[in-house]
Amino acid sequence: MDIYAHRGSSGTHPENTLAAFKEAARLPIFGVEFDVHLTKDGQPVVIHDETIDRTSSGSGFVKDSTLAELKVYDFGGWFSEDHKGERIPTLEEVLLVFAETTHHLNIELKSDIFPYDTMEEKVLALVHDLHLEARVVISSFNHEAIRKVKSLKPEVQTAVLLGSILVDPLRYMRNVPSEALHLHYPAALRPTAKKTIEDGGIVRVFTVNEREQAEALQAIGVQAIFTDYPERMQSSLQTIRKTTK
Ligand code: G3P
Ligand code: MG
Repeated sequence: MDIYAHRGSSGTHPENTLAAFKEAARLPIFGVEFDVHLTKDGQPVVIHDETIDRTSSGSGFVKDSTLAELKVYDFGGWFSEDHKGERIPTLEEVLLVFAETTHHLNIELKSDIFPYDTMEEKVLALVHDLHLEARVVISSFNHEAIRKVKSLKPEVQTAVLLGSILVDPLRYMRNVPSEALHLHYPAALRPTAKKTIEDGGIVRVFTVNEREQAEALQAIGVQAIFTDYPERMQSSLQTIRKTTK
């Protein structure tokens, strides 16, 4: 079972900052996940929430400030004194951290609350410029955005994000279309999730921080998990592998 660092190594570093991504890039894990919004001047930036209130020294919606205005705020001090001075990263800055690594990159489009005009085109242009098409999966709770990504770049892997399981997810995924289902943890334990895997669907599960949860998902055949503690989870899974040999 593969491991993705969720919002970078967000349990040990401030989420979605270059510090969290540099830590993830150092680890021998499969991949990394991060969230994208657009600024007022249309720049793709990496942050989870629609507002900067929770993770910065500022306040307000990402969409209402320019990149230059957002860059003024501190995005590390809320997490710890040691990380004061982190700035909001652009998508390009994050992708460049992984330019020389082999990590798989899950770009989550956060366009399910605000539509963010031309976000798909902007993200795909950056992926293309950095020659990362074969190393990315683009996901979203906004499945219309996923459909648009596929229509623009059919060769890029996509994933639908779901908080709960559907009756026939594989059929839904093929209709969007997307190759993978990124599913909330409790829903991944339902029989339908197991059947989806058996029928050939790629299922990745968020957010898994406990070893027991990872063990249960590994037993079902889940392809990957997103975790806030990638280093700790990687060593837990290695221990599980050794003891089950
Ligand atoms: O992409 C997996 C997971 O990150 C989706 O939920 O809210 O953490 O972005 P959220
Ligand atoms: Mg996310």
